Amino acid sequence: MSKKIYITRKIPDIAITMLTEKGYEVEVGTSSEPLSKKQIIKVLKKKPYDAVISLLTDPIDADVFAAVPTAKLFANYATGFDNINVSHAKQYGVTVTNAPTDTSTEAVAQYSLALMLALMTRIVEADDFVRRGKYKGWSPTNFISSDITGKTLGLVGAGRIGLQLARLASAVGFSIIYTDVKRNEDLETKTGAQFYASIESMLPASDVVSLHVPLMESTRHLIDGRKLKLMKPTAFLVNTSRGPVIDEKALELALKKKEISGAALDVFEFEPKISATMRKLPNVIITPHIASASENVRNSMAKIAAHNVISFLEGRTPPNVITV
Ligand code: GLV
Repeated sequence: MSKKIYITRKIPDIAITMLTEKGYEVEVGTSSEPLSKKQIIKVLKKKPYDAVISLLTDPIDADVFAAVPTAKLFANYATGFDNINVSHAKQYGVTVTNAPTDTSTEAVAQYSLALMLALMTRIVEADDFVRRGKYKGWSPTNFISSDITGKTLGLVGAGRIGLQLARLASAVGFSIIYTDVKRNEDLETKTGAQFYASIESMLPASDVVSLHVPLMESTRHLIDGRKLKLMKPTAFLVNTSRGPVIDEKALELALKKKEISGAALDVFEFEPKISATMRKLPNVIITPHIASASENVRNSMAKIAAHNVISFLEGRTPPNVITV
């Protein structure tokens, strides 16, 4: 009997082609919106699937594993895997994989740089100003902004994305400092970055702070009211990692009180919910979790997810097993 794969929502066709070429039966959920756990359970109960390709919006835990006891692989179509309870997976003997790619590392680093430049140059505010018909002619005092000269980028997290962003940002003129649980000598050699042993010591020295840590219990609300107060009032905060790394209420307050100069967020604490206050703040750029949304990246993620499924179902260890 052919193996059955369920993909919770549409991903690039290349994954389906790879899986059907192996003779697997592939079903793809039709919802264009994120599914609730109840909806996921309902659909997975229908057949004895052998593997599931899940998305970062799918809440997966013991209840889901119990609903489809035949599926011993959940291949997450994302670099992050905080949507999956990995210790529950262990209890159910389920292997979990993610889909990190060099292209997504590059894309997220590029997007983070784009967000920081957009904040510093006020491009989004200025575009809105012109569209609203407010531009009455050039003025020396219009949209005074910040430039890169003499500025320091503080990276929280020096993994693959942090390293790539450090390379891009140092090439355009930022000095780089970083903090992480351990030093990254490669990053220091390639970008001249300086290590700070604590986030508390790094924040006051940064003109822009960019977050590149996975969401774990230790990183939830890593940026809270106390840390925001350590930042310069002229500093900017960029988040392309996971929303709950920032205490969003505290950030709202800090932005309102101008404790920091601005923030660019591609991810949100209660995604997709974004508070009305946050949406109205002029010193915030908000985008819908698209840092890795290039066509190239999405296709490579699809290939990786399919490759993980194929390796697993052919009895090999998939390349991207999550071991935490
Ligand atoms: C995107 O946020 C991802 O984890 O791939």
